[in-house]
Amino acid sequence: MLNNLSRPKMSVGIIGLGYVGLSMAVCLASRDIRVRGYDIDNEKMKKFKCGESYIVEESLEELMGIGIKIGALTAVEFIYDVVNFSDIIFICVGTPSRKDGTINLDYIFKAAQDIGGVLKNIDGYKLIVTKSTVTPGTAEEIIKIIEKESSKKHGVDFGVCSNPEFLREGSAVADFSDPDKIVIGASSEEEAAPLIELYKNFYGKLPNIILTNYANAELIKYANNAFLATKISFINEIALLCEKIPGADVNVIRDGLYADARIGPSFLNAGIGYGGSCFGKDLKALIGFYSKYNRAPYLLRSTEAANDRSAATPVAIIAGDIKKLGPRDSKKRKIAVLGLAFKPGTDDVRDSSALKIINGLRDIGFKNISVHDPVAMENARKVLGNLVKYEYCYEDALWGADWAVIATDWNEYIKIEPAAFIKLMNTPNVFDGRRIYNPKKMKDYGVNYHATGYGRY
Ligand code: UGA
Repeated sequence: MLNNLSRPKMSVGIIGLGYVGLSMAVCLASRDIRVRGYDIDNEKMKKFKCGESYIVEESLEELMGIGIKIGALTAVEFIYDVVNFSDIIFICVGTPSRKDGTINLDYIFKAAQDIGGVLKNIDGYKLIVTKSTVTPGTAEEIIKIIEKESSKKHGVDFGVCSNPEFLREGSAVADFSDPDKIVIGASSEEEAAPLIELYKNFYGKLPNIILTNYANAELIKYANNAFLATKISFINEIALLCEKIPGADVNVIRDGLYADARIGPSFLNAGIGYGGSCFGKDLKALIGFYSKYNRAPYLLRSTEAANDRSAATPVAIIAGDIKKLGPRDSKKRKIAVLGLAFKPGTDDVRDSSALKIINGLRDIGFKNISVHDPVAMENARKVLGNLVKYEYCYEDALWGADWAVIATDWNEYIKIEPAAFIKLMNTPNVFDGRRIYNPKKMKDYGVNYHATGYGRY
């Protein structure tokens, strides 16, 4: 049996350097696994070559530097080189939503076509692995496309595995380095062997490997995200009731649930809803997939509807409160939104609840909105343009405001003392959409404090 040192090093190719592809490329290369990365986006490729990370991700740039320095991480200009020089080729391209919410697999199939085109002209067995989130049936489609393009045979000249990713934005490096599980869909154990070997090289001691067929692997990813989204919508629904019952507090109820081993201690933080590039998109794709089989996904539709309502709650509370001031100039009142990223630790504003709240406020006529975020303002500007005023410190956003909404639980907001709201705001009304403050302390200081899932006395 070969030991780690005498084992020949594997070479890995990555097609698609978004946050999954890039994080994975960098993590593998930082442990001296040879990685060649390719993306159609020239801007990304330029930065990748210079070791500059184009996503906000803890420790990524540092590890990128290590990978480049030891010669393990390179950007290549042609898919031919990715396929030709690699034993395992990962497809990490995007799988966006179509207008009707169903999944668009065009990029996946294009990558399969390109790979097939290269395989036609080279010798040697290659393993193609899908990391992107894809609906069941995709692996078989990939096989068909590659066989057609290359005239080679699945299982003889090339293998295909489905290996969905469970990384979270903001903690991708940590998640990749210490995963709860690795899910692999393959047509046989043999087919998955090179991939498991790669993970042995990387981890030393293998994490929990779930080896199954293609359909199960592809569905596990969807079920995983849909379940997590449902957990959030569930606790947000409990929160809604808590807000109406004096003394009720969803955080205490959450801790009670966490104490039950059957439920488990995570992902039940109530707030203004989930966002990001995955939960909403994947839920829509899964719901769309049900219609293919003429089945109704009642629960998943409710998960979506509950999430939309979570972002609408602060809008309704603020609108109701400001109305009480009388019609005169009420729409000119200043509202501060602290946090634009869909969660802390990232500059990603895709499907962010903050943006939904801002749009909701604007839709009912509030135009004087000032926003702040420690890292996501540039991305927010691309979406919101000049519809809001961007402030480079949260104090300026709060200054003279009549309402403040805490939309992202960034550390710097957690540190804001009640006295600061009193000092900076015109009227200290705060909607805490992420439950980061102590309600009693806020009340004692005279802040009119509303929070998700907190029933005020
Ligand atoms: C999610 C999954 O957690 C990853 O496992 C998966 O790989 C990824 O999608 C994907 O499919 O690529 P991510 O989108 O980075 O990862 O975000 P999460 O950390 O899961 O948070 C999603 C949203 O839920 C955030 O808006 C967050 O604020 C919200 N959330 C999370 C809550 O409102 N309450 C909670 O208790 C937890």
